[in-house]
Amino acid sequence: MSPGLASAGVRRLWPDPADDLDVDELVVADARPTPADRPWLLVNMITSLDGAITIDGRSGGLGRPADKALFHALRQVADVVMAGAGTVRAEGYGPARPSPSQRAARVARGLPEAPRIAVVTRSLDLDLTSTLFTAEGPRPLVLTCETAPADRRRATEEVADVVVAGDTSVDLRATMAALAAAGVERITCEGGPHLNADLLAADLVDEWACTLTPILVAGDEGRAAVGTVLSAPVSMRLDRLLEGDGLLLGRWVREGPTAALR
Ligand SMILES: NC(=O)c1ccc[n+]([C@@H]2O[C@H](COP(=O)([O-])OP(=O)(O)OC[C@H]3O[C@@H](n4cnc5c(N)ncnc54)[C@H](OP(=O)(O)O)[C@@H]3O)[C@@H](O)[C@H]2O)c1
Repeated sequence: MSPGLASAGVRRLWPDPADDLDVDELVVADARPTPADRPWLLVNMITSLDGAITIDGRSGGLGRPADKALFHALRQVADVVMAGAGTVRAEGYGPARPSPSQRAARVARGLPEAPRIAVVTRSLDLDLTSTLFTAEGPRPLVLTCETAPADRRRATEEVADVVVAGDTSVDLRATMAALAAAGVERITCEGGPHLNADLLAADLVDEWACTLTPILVAGDEGRAAVGTVLSAPVSMRLDRLLEGDGLLLGRWVREGPTAALR
């Protein structure tokens, strides 16, 4: 997805129908109160009408300009953009590169010019020669666990800030607490499905942005959260439904009161 994409015009279907709205303005205006002991965490995913999150192993074929505008807008409200290592490997992640106007807008809102990218991994099987780790800009974060191979951990520490929490998997609650203690207030998680399921199981998802693209994919492509089984379904409340380029862009927030605010 190209950085610095101009915001696409969208219309709001619910609540208060309105035409020709700016995605950046809508996203910036959304309430994201910081919970007491961790950052606000939003998940952003795109799916086909039949629930597929990829075409041929990547998400790019599902998107249109309105989705790309939302993707970039949701990055612009975050201190940290987080993704699972499977997504980083499949999508070839690099650093976040906001446009000059987005950088200026972030600074005006008290944020650093660009968000840091955080990768969740137990294997530390990451391409440390990729631009994610070599480009100018904020140092990436790698969130891992005790059983990660020691040699890879040493190599990763050369190019990233490594946070270790948990034994055989990343203890996501402890990691969120550590990030909060370091001043992180908002995280945009870009998946993928295994990380999403673990975040849901840890009761860490405050907001779910899901874009429905008018494509049917069939096959055995994955869906937005898989793996860890939840003890009970997580209830979310519809906050807003937009339409742009034929896509439906929904914002859901967690049902019930958010934990005490900082
Ligand atoms: N449509 C969309 O919006 C969208 C968004 C994101 C991704 N995707 C697609 O999803 C696919 C990737 O799926 P995926 O399930 O592999 O993605 P993923 O959830 O990003 O990656 C899974 C990997 O993340 C790490 N991980 C996740 N939870 C962990 C935990 N609690 N502790 C330690 N490590 C943890 C592990 O990395 P290690 O293997 O390194 O240990 C695990 O193998 C790609 O095809 C991508 O294109 C689609």
